[in-house]
Amino acid sequence: MVGSAIIRGLQKQGQTNIITKTHAELDLTNQLNVRSFFEIEKPDQVYLAAAKVGGIHANNTYPAEFIYQNLMIEANVIDAAFQNGIKKLLFLGSSCIYPKLAEQPMREDFLLTGLLEPTNEPYAIAKIAGIKLCESYSRQYGESHGIDYRSVMPTNLYGTGDNYHAENSHVIPALIRRINEAKQQNKSKVTVWGTGTPRREFLHVDDMATASIHVMNMDESEYKAHTSPMCSHINVGSGTDITIKELVETIANVINYQGAIEFDTSKPDGAPRKLMDSSRLNSLGWQHEINLAKGLESTYLDYCKMYLGH
Ligand SMILES: NC(=O)c1ccc[n+]([C@@H]2O[C@H](COP(=O)([O-])OP(=O)(O)OC[C@H]3O[C@@H](n4cnc5c(N)ncnc54)[C@H](OP(=O)(O)O)[C@@H]3O)[C@@H](O)[C@H]2O)c1
Repeated sequence: MVGSAIIRGLQKQGQTNIITKTHAELDLTNQLNVRSFFEIEKPDQVYLAAAKVGGIHANNTYPAEFIYQNLMIEANVIDAAFQNGIKKLLFLGSSCIYPKLAEQPMREDFLLTGLLEPTNEPYAIAKIAGIKLCESYSRQYGESHGIDYRSVMPTNLYGTGDNYHAENSHVIPALIRRINEAKQQNKSKVTVWGTGTPRREFLHVDDMATASIHVMNMDESEYKAHTSPMCSHINVGSGTDITIKELVETIANVINYQGAIEFDTSKPDGAPRKLMDSSRLNSLGWQHEINLAKGLESTYLDYCKMYLGH
């Protein structure tokens, strides 16, 4: 989802020489293949959006795969980029790098100040390692080799190219799918897990792409003025959160579902609030552009085109 959005964003800016590889063409956990890719292609810049991703269930069931594959992808790509003289790289992390009980909104300097959420700790540790790889290469080789590797931490993303898998999707695609099915099947109600009171932040993936391109191309002195060598990552969010109840109502409205929404309060809620502090990026000149209602409308149209053929 994010990689494709970055490609669309770069193409919009007139960039034509973009090298991509599918997972089937290049397994980034394979060090030899990654090295030979970089030796042949020698790109000017690298956006590292590839990762093994998944929801709570997948993270809990396959913790070894989540930590191993993500560590390998990051270590292979970042080192091969360095070995081949690539000066600019952007690594995509995640908001789950922050402690489970972090104060809200979460600032960049809250990293490594407390225990992580246990369900996705292996994934989060790998993402933290990705940040520290970028930082360490920049610190050690910044002056001598001009290395400038940066990282961005996206909040919850949604939009074009999302995963609508029945069991393994994030909250927005899962709700779009379920509410749309309820509408098609004339169901009188949809049941949503939890109380509906937790607050979450969402960002459209096209905004994530503009943020990524902005951070990648930002002037080095400006970037350095707003970060520090050992706290160099940048949060990317919309800056506002809404309750799950408000989210469900907005999606039902976009889909024009007239049935009732019921909350199953016997089911777990998760953290009461998860909001990133994106003021660092805002002060570096980026703002999100797509508000949630508009973003959900276009996302629903995409869903209809992709899965319903209209
Ligand atoms: N979506 C969100 O809400 C969100 C939030 C925070 C952070 N992020 C971060 O944003 C980045 C992109 O996420 P996304 O939502 O765009 O996920 P996505 O759509 O699943 O994209 C990840 C891509 O990485 C590829 N990949 C996985 N393992 C690989 C390997 N060993 N070699 C080569 N390619 C591999 C996947 O290919 P296959 O599908 O073929 O395996 C997929 O194309 C990730 O780093 C993720 O942690 C996403």
